Amino acid sequence: MGRSGAFCRGGMAGKELKFRDLVIRCRSCRRFDGGAPVDKEAVGNLVAIASCLPSVRNLQPLRYIALTERAECEAIFPLLGWAGYLEEWPGPQEGERPTAYLVMLNDTSIAADSSCDSGIAAGAILLGATAAGYGGCIVGSVQKDSLRQQLCIPAQYQILMVIALGQPAETIVIDKIGEGESIRYYRDHNDIHHVPKREAADVLLRFH
Ligand SMILES: Cc1cc2nc3c(=O)[nH]c(=O)nc-3n(C[C@H](O)[C@H](O)[C@H](O)COP(=O)(O)O)c2cc1C
Repeated sequence: MGRSGAFCRGGMAGKELKFRDLVIRCRSCRRFDGGAPVDKEAVGNLVAIASCLPSVRNLQPLRYIALTERAECEAIFPLLGWAGYLEEWPGPQEGERPTAYLVMLNDTSIAADSSCDSGIAAGAILLGATAAGYGGCIVGSVQKDSLRQQLCIPAQYQILMVIALGQPAETIVIDKIGEGESIRYYRDHNDIHHVPKREAADVLLRFH
């Protein structure tokens, strides 16, 4: 298995990345510098990016709740599930937890299903966060009823996911895998997080 990209501790603020490098750096980060806040403006910029994206029938049903205050972040954290394949790991510990969140909602009065829009938005938000020197993780494993109660979210809004954000504090590498190899991410004895990804040649198909 070859290593094809690394995403390391520390921010990248001010350093421009080529798109491919940005995508490679844009890994799901689950350990952050808990003492480094994400400023409100940066989170607002991510929502502004999201508001320019493609949308089915241009309905634009997605809505966001931004959480950047310490107390808000602490309150939402217990409602999230982390890294299912890392069975021994209970999730980010105190001091390495995300310092901001975007809760993504679908306004069901506009669209019954926004799964295509939400995927596009989540991907762009993570790329935008990475370009701004932050890191993030899409969290689909959310205790939605509790979150709805906690944030007083009206029934009209479907909770789709939470995007955790912060200053990255872990090293993540992509390992290229061949057909039949495990896609399960893992951490090695140096605490490096490995993400197996299929080769382009294996996902590019031709049937004639
Ligand atoms: C829709 C969606 C839901 C996800 N939910 C979770 C989650 O609940 N908890 C988590 O730790 N990671 C979650 N992830 C992150 C994936 O585990 C991650 O994308 C995968 O391991 C590949 O790593 P990479 O993003 O660095 O390529 C989710 C990703 C997607 C696209």
